[in-house]
Amino acid sequence: MEVTADGSPVEVYLLLPPDGEAEIVHAAVSPGASILELGCGAGRVTHPLVDLGHEVVAVDDSPSMLAHVRAESVCARIGDLELGRTFDAVLLASHLVNTPRVADRRAMLAAAKRHLRPDGRLIVQWHPPGWFDSAASGQGGLLGEVTIELADVVREGDLLSATVQYAARGQRWHQEFTCRRLSLDDLLTSADFRLHTWLTADHTWFSGAPGRMG
Ligand SMILES: C[S@@+](CC[C@H](N)C(=O)[O-])C[C@H]1O[C@@H](n2cnc3c(N)ncnc32)[C@H](O)[C@@H]1O
Repeated sequence: MEVTADGSPVEVYLLLPPDGEAEIVHAAVSPGASILELGCGAGRVTHPLVDLGHEVVAVDDSPSMLAHVRAESVCARIGDLELGRTFDAVLLASHLVNTPRVADRRAMLAAAKRHLRPDGRLIVQWHPPGWFDSAASGQGGLLGEVTIELADVVREGDLLSATVQYAARGQRWHQEFTCRRLSLDDLLTSADFRLHTWLTADHTWFSGAPGRMG
C-alpha cells in the first residue's frame, strides 16, 4: 500500500470522489482563472477544476499521487516551491494550514504569496477554531464508497491528534494526524494576507488577498 510522507493512503484518494470543493473554488475566482493547487493528491479536486475551465498547476511531494494527475504537475515540497510565475489563485485545501509545525505553515503561506498575482486570491480550506472543540471519536460518514470515521481524538493545548479510519471494498486504511488550532489572524496577518471573504457558511473555506487590513 502506498502512503505519502504525510500519511495519506494513495488508494483511498483514488476512491474518494470530489465533494463540491472545485465548485467552491470556481465560485470564488474569475471564469478561466489560473490556479496553483498546493497538495493536490491524486487530482480529486484538480480534475473538476480543469473541467470547469481552469488552467491548473498541481503540486504535491508524492510521485505516487502525481502519477494520477491529468494536469500540469510539479513534484515539490510546498514550502520549497519556486516556479517563477504567478497565478490568479492559489489553493491550499485539505487543512494543510493546520499543520502542527509553525515553520511549515509559514513556509506554505510564503510559497502561496510568491506565486500569487497582486490582485489574486488565496483560497483556503482549514479547520476553524470551533472544530477543535467539537471533533470527537466516532464522527464521520460516507463519501462515495468510502466510509470515514474519526478515532482516538486527543487534545493537548492547541494541538489535536486523531486517526482517520477509511473502509471500502473490504479493505481498511488509517491515517494518523496532528493539527493546530489557529486564529484567522495568526494564519493570515503573519503571512501578510487579509481576509477577503468567507466562502462557506460553516467558515471552513475562505479567500484571502495579499496585504494587511488597511
Ligand atoms: C490529505 S491529501 C489531500 C489531497 C487533495 N487535496 C484532495 O483533497 O484529494 C494531502 C496531500 O497533500 C500532500 N502534501 C502534504 N503536505 C505537503 C507538502 N508540505 N508539500 C507537498 N505536498 C504535501 C500529500 O502528499 C497529499 O497528497
